[in-house]
Amino acid sequence: MSQMPPRLPDTNMIDHASAPATMNSPMPAAVPVRGRFITFEGIDGAGKSSQIAAVVALLQAAGLDVDQTREPGGTALGERLRELLLHEPMHLETEAMLMFAARREHLAARIEPALAAGRWVVCDRFSDATFAYQVGGRGLDRAKFDALEAWVHPGLQPDLTLVFDLDPAVAAARVASTGADPDRFEREQHDFFERVRAAYLERACLAPLRICVVDAARTPEVIRADIERIVRERLLS
Ligand SMILES: Nc1ncnc2c1ncn2[C@@H]1O[C@H](COP(=O)(O)OP(=O)(O)O)[C@@H](O)[C@H]1O
Ligand SMILES: [Mg+2]
Repeated sequence: MSQMPPRLPDTNMIDHASAPATMNSPMPAAVPVRGRFITFEGIDGAGKSSQIAAVVALLQAAGLDVDQTREPGGTALGERLRELLLHEPMHLETEAMLMFAARREHLAARIEPALAAGRWVVCDRFSDATFAYQVGGRGLDRAKFDALEAWVHPGLQPDLTLVFDLDPAVAAARVASTGADPDRFEREQHDFFERVRAAYLERACLAPLRICVVDAARTPEVIRADIERIVRERLLS
């Protein structure tokens, strides 16, 4: 790391107690500044999980309290739904609704409380993945995705989303080289991942201020430096 992280306040709290008092107004307790929400996206094998710790470490070095999590999952119930989603054959709309059911639980039990308490949340996949995989990959009706998203998290989107963009053939070779048993999604064919990739890029075009596309074909060291720069520029400066 050639650059030092920018200086942040020692605390992530607004200290109302040190503000001047007015007559008859009791001092409110310190209210945390809402945390930020960062998501990692991209097809299987793009390198998300390999890089997420670097961003968490960068934020922690800047003095922030960070909660690292993943989807589907992130709660006890969500992890049980993940097992079903990754291994149990099901109707496409069941799949989409279970993804959003797990997300509803994750938001209520973990993400929202953390953000409200001033913690930063770094999450491996979120609703952009449901758009890319279920709408782009599998052909779920877009209006049904929009309705589920508007139901489950109206008014909430990540503050920053990093989309790891990679040729599906390269990604598949990376996944194969891990030797792990592929799940229901990883077993899909090349053209499925081409559609997922295209849907991610379409979503990035629709939300250019939130979504940053990262060229995931480079070495891990170069990608790491790039995403650290993006996080610093967008959220820490
Ligand atoms: N930039 C990279 N270049 C080459 N191989 C990589 C790179 N990033 C990750 N890998 C390897 O590819 C495989 C999949 O990476 P992973 O981070 O698990 O991807 P994802 O979480 O996006 O599915 C792992 O074996 C990992 O070591
Ligand atoms: Mg992963």
